[in-house]
Amino acid sequence: MNRHASSVTRHGTWDDPIVCRCEEVTVSQVVRAIREGYDTLEELKRHLRVGMGPCQGRTCLPLLARILSRETGRPLGEVMEEVSIRPPLVPVPFELWRGR
Ligand code: FES
Repeated sequence: MNRHASSVTRHGTWDDPIVCRCEEVTVSQVVRAIREGYDTLEELKRHLRVGMGPCQGRTCLPLLARILSRETGRPLGEVMEEVSIRPPLVPVPFELWRGR
């Protein structure tokens, strides 16, 4: 496949891929925000809304953490400690927890 045949899509470009597909945030937007001083996951979430879409960051927060680690030179483990764990998005019937 010729990667340049359709290099611009609704979701970024080959050279600037999407990080958060729920909020349509690209790598370049994240890097720019970090260089502007938004250098924690919480600041990036509030500034770009990355991780605040329907999946609540299950897809994008690990990617965001890696970019933040690379751009700031902080260890990935330290960056990942900033991630807030959210409860499941879909209500689960109580019967599933009790068993039958
Ligand atoms: S991919 Fe980022 S919130 Fe869903």
